Amino acid sequence: MSKYWSNSIKSVETYVPGEQPKGGNFIKLNTNENPYPPSPAVAEAIRCAADERLRRYPDPSCDSFREALAGYYKLDKNQIFAGNGSDEILAFAWKAFFEPGKPIMFADVTYSFYPVYCKINSIDFETVPLNDDFTMPVEPFFGSRGGVVIANPNAPTGSCMELEDIERIIKNNPENVVLIDEAYIDFGGKSALELIERHENLLVVQTLSKARSLAGLRVGFAMGDKDLITGLEKARDSFNSYTLDTLALIGAAAAFEDEEYFLGTRNSIIRTRGEFTDELRKLGFDVVESKANFVFASKKDIPALKIFKKLRENGILVRHFDKPRISNYLRITIGTPEQMKETLQVLKKLTQNHIDE
Ligand SMILES: Cc1ncc(COP(=O)(O)O)c(C=O)c1O
Repeated sequence: MSKYWSNSIKSVETYVPGEQPKGGNFIKLNTNENPYPPSPAVAEAIRCAADERLRRYPDPSCDSFREALAGYYKLDKNQIFAGNGSDEILAFAWKAFFEPGKPIMFADVTYSFYPVYCKINSIDFETVPLNDDFTMPVEPFFGSRGGVVIANPNAPTGSCMELEDIERIIKNNPENVVLIDEAYIDFGGKSALELIERHENLLVVQTLSKARSLAGLRVGFAMGDKDLITGLEKARDSFNSYTLDTLALIGAAAAFEDEEYFLGTRNSIIRTRGEFTDELRKLGFDVVESKANFVFASKKDIPALKIFKKLRENGILVRHFDKPRISNYLRITIGTPEQMKETLQVLKKLTQNHIDE
């Protein structure tokens, strides 16, 4: 603590990202990264662009990337905002759409960055308890005083809402923004994108970090009514006009041109998720039905922390959250079939030893 810090920096409890080990040969199943490399078209586009053009500032309006997205999603460019990862877009959304004194709502178990954005912006929030099976309730989100934020599929649970339920929440919050954080939507959920033409209060946020294998490039985007997009632009241009660099913009556009690669890797992860879930259940784990690139699992008779440590000793990193309701769960990212096989071998041994103990 320094006397030079502002009060808000003194009091904020910051987000803690999953471990990124510097050395060691870990199987990394702790930050929901994609186990497959990005499309070769991305590296090629970046290589070709790494030339004297870097002398110049990037395009602050990110037009070429937004045009690529507009073509892909059949939208107008003015309905799209691009940012430095979806985290940055969330940070701008808090600034642009939420007000002190008007509490926003999100689930009690959800992406742990949401309360941090609230704290740093002096925005109050109310948490809505997930149902016992970790599905998202609907009616409790009606009539919020300041706005609603829902991760769909939710993190760290992986469970996904029906679009009709999302639309009911949007309709029942006509005075406020409903932000649907779709970081994991490509792994089997139905995007709320099709609702944006009907609802001017809906903002859909997506990322290239997960299904497009580009967490390191830091690119996310938001889609919604053009007035919401202008709000995000105002927030950005009060902070830093060039949050996306030239190479990121070019690489991100290239990722959307290689549909075959995207579908291939995405479908592999969905297949591996199904197989891994079945095997975990055979070992006696409770596994939440997931539409994301991770599963949320618990073994009632073995503490999650013990499993976490055992996996780590065997070079496998997963994520454990020491938080109410979920401290006996582990979030395990879906890797390659080989990585999941190794993980299962450790888990099998552990459950067997536990029975023998
Ligand atoms: C629900 C959710 N939203 C947003 C993000 C941020 O992703 P990024 O900033 O890499 O786009 C994450 C990252 O794990 C996430 O889990």
